[in-house]
Amino acid sequence: MRGVGEGVRQEEYVCKFEHIEAYDAGDFPEDISRKYGVPLRKIVNLNSNENPYPLPRSVIHAIYEAAKHSSRYPDPKYPELKEAISSYIGVPAENIVLGTGANDIFSCICNILEPLDRVVIPIPTYTMYAFYAMMRDASLKFIETAEEKCFVPSSEEIIDAAEDAKLVFLCSPCNPTGAVLPPAEIKKIVEHVNAIVVVDEAYAEFSGKSVVSDALEHENLVVVRSFSKFFALAGLRIGYAVAPKQLASLFEKLRQPFAISSIGAKAAVQAIKEVEYFNKIRDKIVEERAYLYESLKKISFLKPFPSEANFILVKLSIAASELMESLYKNGIIIRNVTDMLGLKGNFVRITVGRRSENRRLVEALRNLE
Ligand SMILES: Cc1ncc(COP(=O)(O)O)c(C=O)c1O
Repeated sequence: MRGVGEGVRQEEYVCKFEHIEAYDAGDFPEDISRKYGVPLRKIVNLNSNENPYPLPRSVIHAIYEAAKHSSRYPDPKYPELKEAISSYIGVPAENIVLGTGANDIFSCICNILEPLDRVVIPIPTYTMYAFYAMMRDASLKFIETAEEKCFVPSSEEIIDAAEDAKLVFLCSPCNPTGAVLPPAEIKKIVEHVNAIVVVDEAYAEFSGKSVVSDALEHENLVVVRSFSKFFALAGLRIGYAVAPKQLASLFEKLRQPFAISSIGAKAAVQAIKEVEYFNKIRDKIVEERAYLYESLKKISFLKPFPSEANFILVKLSIAASELMESLYKNGIIIRNVTDMLGLKGNFVRITVGRRSENRRLVEALRNLE
C-alpha cells in the first residue's frame, strides 16, 4: 500500500463520499443560546423529536449503578436486554437484533445485502435510509407522496416500484410527516415484493400501530425500533429490530462486539420495567399533540398535518427562514425541513413539548400574525 508522498497524485486520495451531504441535525440549544443571547435554561427545544419528560428515578439509578462497573465489558450477547425486549414486544429473543440506535441497524442492513442494487424509498422520509444506501452505491427509487393525501404512500406504487428491488424502507409513523401507513397496507407490500421490507417504527408507541408481531410470519420483514423516543434514552443510543431468525443471527454476527454500552443496556432494561410510567407520559404527549395541532390550525399562516407521532409537520405561507429567525430570538428551536426531498414549499417540523413549552411556541407564533 502506498502512502502520501510516495508518488501518488493527490486526487487518488479523494474519498468517493466527499460530496455526500452530512446528516443535518438542526440547531442545538447551546448554539442558539450563544448566538441570540438567550440563557440556556430559557431555551425551548422542539427540534429533535425527543421525549421532553424526565427519566424515572429507577432508570437514573440503574445508569449510576452500571457506571460503577464501567471498567468491565458488557456480555456481548446482551441476554438480559434481549429478554426484556422480548417480553415487552412479545417476540422470541432469537428474533431480536440490537444496535446503537435504530440508525445503526439501518446501516447494518444496507451493509449486509449483497449486492445492494435497487432500493425503494417513499418520500418525504427520514434521510438516513438514502444516506446508508448511497454509501453502498445503490440506485435509489424515490416514490413521491401527495400533500393532499397527507403524504401517506400508496402501497400499489411501492409494490410496482419494488420489482427487482433488494430493499424497501418504510417509516411508520413517518418522520417528518407524522403519517402512518396502516399495518394492512404494510403486510400487502411485504407479501407482494421479493425485497426485504424494513419498517422503521421509531415512533410506533405514539401511534399504537405496529407490525412487530407480523415480523415472525414473513421472511422479508424487518421491524426497527428505538429507545430514543418513547423510552427517552436518545443520549444512550439503543435501538433494536425484529427480524426472521436467519437474518437476525446474521445481523448479530456482524455487529461490532460490545457495541451497546453496559450503561445503555442496563438503562434500557430498567426503562422496560417502568413501561407504565412511559405509557402515562405517552398519553400526555398525545394529549399535547392534539392541543398543539388545534392551536396551530388557528394561526393564519400555518397548515399543520395530522400526526400519529410526537411531532407535527407544518406548511407555511411565509418563508421558513423568517419564521425560524423570529423563534430563535424568542429562544425557541424547531426544525426547518423546507429543503427536504419530497416536500414542496416552506415546511417546519415541531416536536410536541410539555404544555408550558407548547404554549410559549403558540404565543410566539400568534405574535407573528
Ligand atoms: C424515523 C426515525 N428513525 C430513526 C431515528 C433514529 O433513531 P435512533 O436514535 O434510535 O438512532 C430517528 C431519529 O430522529 C427517526 O426520526
